[in-house]
Amino acid sequence: MSDSLENPQAKRLRFPPPRGFASHANADATLYAQASTDRLAFWAQQARDLLSWHKPFTRTLDWSQAPVAKWFDDGEINIAYNCLDRHVETGAGDRVAIHWEGEPGDSREITYAELTADVKKAANVLAGLGVGAGDRVAVYLPMIPEAVVTMLAIARLGAVHSVVFGGFSADSLRSRIDDAEAKVVVTADGGWRKGKVFALKPTVDAAIEEDGGAASVTNVLVVRRGENEVAWKEGRDIWWHDAMAAAETEHVAQGFPAEQPLFILYTSGTTGTPKGILHTSGGYLTQAAYTHKNVFDIKPETDVYWCTADVGWITGHTYVVYGPLANGATQLMFEGTPDAPHPGRWWELIEKYKVSILYTAPTAIRSFMKLGTAIPEKYDLSSIRLLGSVGEPINPAAWIWYRDVIGGGKAPIVDTWWQTETGAIMVSPLPGVTTLKPGSAQTPLPGIQIDILDDDGNHLEQGDAGLLVITEPWPSMLRGIWGNEERYKSAYWEKFGDKYFAGDGARIDDDGDLWLLGRVDDVMNVSGHRLSTAEIESALVSNNIVAEAAVVGAADETTGQAVVAFVILKSEFANDIEPADASATLRKHVADHIGAIARPAKIYIVAELPKTRSGKIMRRLLRDVAEGRPIGDTTTLTDPAVLSIIDAQVH
Ligand code: WT7
Repeated sequence: MSDSLENPQAKRLRFPPPRGFASHANADATLYAQASTDRLAFWAQQARDLLSWHKPFTRTLDWSQAPVAKWFDDGEINIAYNCLDRHVETGAGDRVAIHWEGEPGDSREITYAELTADVKKAANVLAGLGVGAGDRVAVYLPMIPEAVVTMLAIARLGAVHSVVFGGFSADSLRSRIDDAEAKVVVTADGGWRKGKVFALKPTVDAAIEEDGGAASVTNVLVVRRGENEVAWKEGRDIWWHDAMAAAETEHVAQGFPAEQPLFILYTSGTTGTPKGILHTSGGYLTQAAYTHKNVFDIKPETDVYWCTADVGWITGHTYVVYGPLANGATQLMFEGTPDAPHPGRWWELIEKYKVSILYTAPTAIRSFMKLGTAIPEKYDLSSIRLLGSVGEPINPAAWIWYRDVIGGGKAPIVDTWWQTETGAIMVSPLPGVTTLKPGSAQTPLPGIQIDILDDDGNHLEQGDAGLLVITEPWPSMLRGIWGNEERYKSAYWEKFGDKYFAGDGARIDDDGDLWLLGRVDDVMNVSGHRLSTAEIESALVSNNIVAEAAVVGAADETTGQAVVAFVILKSEFANDIEPADASATLRKHVADHIGAIARPAKIYIVAELPKTRSGKIMRRLLRDVAEGRPIGDTTTLTDPAVLSIIDAQVH
C-alpha cells in the first residue's frame, strides 16, 4: 500500500463480494430485474413493505404537473410514527435508537421507547407554541439528541423543519428564517467543539433582533447544553427542559397526505442566494428507508451504524435521522470532531460502541491517511463490516486505505453519489452484489435511471465524458425550491427539458460503471460541502475595501477543493492597506457573513482580473493560477497580459 495520496494501480483493482457477506446481504441481484421490469410497481412495493401507512395509497406516481412529482399522493402517512411508535408497538421499544457521545466524553443511551416518549412531549410543546401542519420551524442545534427529537416532533405535527447548520452565521440564519417565514426557532445555549463551548443562542438573537429581521419568529426554544451565559427575552425565549417537564406525555400521530412538505434544506447554487430545497413525506421516507436498508445492509438487531454527518446537511437528515430510524436501526451519534481531544477519537468510538457500519466523507479519510496507520492501529476496529463514502469522488488511493486500515482489508465500500436535491442515494454499489471498483460510484440503484449527455442533450457513448442526468422521476426527488418555482425549473430542467440536470460531469466506462468528474457549474465542493462562488464573491464585495472579487475552487489534497479568492481593492485603499492585512480582514469578513466553512483558504490581492470581451470573468484561468498549472487558452481575453501579471503576483 502506498502512503501517497495517489496510487495509479488502485484504480484497476476489483473486489468481488466476500462470500460470507453475499449470502447474508439484504440486497440481491433480483432487485435490478424487478425494478427494470416495472419501475413504478417496484417503488410501490418498497413503499408498502418498508413503511406503515395511515391510509394506503392507490396511485404511485403522478407526473402530470412535471417537473413537480407526486408520489403515493392519495396515501396518508405520519413520518414520526414510522420512525418511532411502530417499532415500540412491534416490540423493539427497548432497542437502543441512539448511542450518543458528547464531545467532552459524556454519553447517553436512548431506546426507541424513550425517543418516542420525548418526541411526543416535544410535539406537544411545539403545538402549544402554535405550530401546526404546514408551519415552518427553524432548527439551529449542535449534534445532540434534541436535534433528532426536534426534527421528528416537527414532522409528527405535519410541520416543516428548516435545519440550519450550526456553523452558519447570523446573516445566513436570518435569511433562511425569513425565506421560510419560520414561526419558532429551536436552538441551544451552545455546543461543544474541540474542548470548548461555542455559543449558538447569541447568533439566533442577532439573527432575530438586528435589522428588524426574522419578524415571523414568535418563540425561541433553547436546549441547555453548553451552560454558557445567554441573554434572555421574556415571553419569547423558553427553556427546552422547562417546557418538556411541563408537557403532556401522550400524543397520537395523525396521518398526513404523502405529499405533505417535510423539510426545507438550503444549499448553494450558482447565484448568490441559497436555494431552499423542498422535500415531502411519503416518497422521501420510502427512498430513505430503501437505500439505508440495501446500501448499508442494515440488520437492526445486530448492527451499530454510524453516519458522521451533521444533521445540518442532507446526509444528516436522510442517514442520521430518517433512514436509520425508519428501519429501526441502532446508531451512534457524536457531537465532536475527529481530532479532539486526540486524533484517534473516531477509532476509539468505533471500539467503544462496536460500530459495524461507518459512513463518512473522503475528506475525513484523506486527513486520517495523512496522519498514518499507527493511530487507527491502536484500536480494535474488528467490528467494522461495511464502509460508506459520500460527498465527492473518493480517490482510489483513499479507497484502498479506507478498506485496508479501517475495514480490516475485507469490508466492502459503498461509494454513494447523491445530492441535497435527490434526497437519498441514487448511484452506489450494492454490497454483497456488486464487484467493487475503487474510485467509481458504479451503477444507479434499482429503480433509478441515469444517462450521460453532451451539452446539446445527445446521449453519449460509453467512455465519453459528459453531463449526468436523471431520466425518470424518483420518490425522494425535490419537489421544488421554496417560494421560487421559476428557479426550480431553470436550475434543473431548462437545460434538457424532461431530464433532471444534476450539475455534475461524469463518464460511464466499458463495464457500465459511472465515474464522477466534479461539478460543471460555479459550485465548489469543499470537504464534501457545497459552496457557491457567487455567494462568496458577493460577501467579499459587501466589504467596503473591495472593488471586485472572483472566487474559484482550487484542487486541494485533503478537502477536495479549497476556496481561493482574487480580489481587487478600491483604488482609495489599494496603496494604504498591506495585502496580507487586507487578505486577513476579508477572510474573517466572509466567515462572519456566511460561516466559517466559507472562509477562503487564500485571498490574493491583485490589480486586475481576466475578463472576456463581454466582461465575464474567466474562472477557468484563475483556477490554473491557483493550482499552479500552466495557464490555458487566453485568446478570448480582452487583455491576455493580465494573467501573467496575476501569475507573477501570486507565485
Ligand atoms: C454534490 C452534492 C449528498 C450528500 C453530500 C453532498 C458531489 C456527492 C458524491 C460521490 C462524487 C459526489 C456531487 C454532487 N457528490 N457524493 N459519491 N462521488 N461526487 O450533498 O451538498 O447536495 O452536494 O456532491 O458533485 O452534485 P450536496
